[in-house]
Amino acid sequence: MKIISSIEELRDQLRGQLRTAFVPTMGNLHEGHLSLMRLARRHGDPVVASIFVNRLQFGPNEDFDKYPRTFQADVEKLEKEGVYVLFAPTEKDLYPEPQEYRVQPPNDLGDILEGEFRPGFFNGVSTVVLKLFSCVQPRVAVFGKKDYQQLMIIRNMAKQFALPTEIIAAETWRAEDGLALSSRNGYLNAVERAEAPILYQTLNRVAEQVRNGATDLQAIEQEAMHHLRSRSWNPDYVAIRKRSNLQIPSNESLANKEELVVLSAAKLGNTRLIDNLEI
Ligand code: PAJ
Repeated sequence: MKIISSIEELRDQLRGQLRTAFVPTMGNLHEGHLSLMRLARRHGDPVVASIFVNRLQFGPNEDFDKYPRTFQADVEKLEKEGVYVLFAPTEKDLYPEPQEYRVQPPNDLGDILEGEFRPGFFNGVSTVVLKLFSCVQPRVAVFGKKDYQQLMIIRNMAKQFALPTEIIAAETWRAEDGLALSSRNGYLNAVERAEAPILYQTLNRVAEQVRNGATDLQAIEQEAMHHLRSRSWNPDYVAIRKRSNLQIPSNESLANKEELVVLSAAKLGNTRLIDNLEI
């Protein structure tokens, strides 16, 4: 595997490649990330991964400085997956000057759910992903459903900018007890780790109530938040939304059996976890 930090060298290395499959990450790789590498392999060749902890998508009081950086271990994992190039730019490589041109997602998608609680987050994500795409020029790129809203925003960006990159969705990889794998799980202490699967269990309960025909979605969301609070979680949201655009389903959407998804973000101690489940 070639490890490349400069954009110019990356371009030289990938010149003429027409079937590149790309997986952007922020490192601290786990099985979820590696499942994306395997999916990428099925959709293209060579597979290119990136590791870059993107300052633009972290708020001033978020965990940019303490975000786990485990570069050597990550390299070994990617080697084993047969990744051809790891693009690991420094901040100077990717942002040699302040990134003043930005991708601004539409408010009705970028400012809801995660965007409401992390202002500017999707601007930072979209901007870095567009820039990484411009460096790698992939034919396909793989994103996890774990970050459901991110996947949708990137998909819509690729469509609206007519990018020549097809966006592929990977299923959420979970631990045996249901907890979605995440780099932030490493922040949990033993007691919190034992409690953490409750988030996914709560989403499953919500999904079941909806499948069983409940129509007062707000009541279901409130009850789920209440349940989390009663177990010492601090939920930002539990939201039942339309899969197509993440907007609130109308009675008509319910009558038409439109496809739904339930999304949640909640803090356990100091660790903010997100998860979602297609209903
Ligand atoms: P990161 O959190 O490192 O995630 C990289 C990719 O792995 C994302 O597409 C994410 O959805 C996927 N992923 C994470 N946990 C997963 C799991 N348990 N199962 C399946 N896929 C999982 O998301 C980012 O980085 C950044 O925002 C990035 C897109 C790289 C832009 O900076």
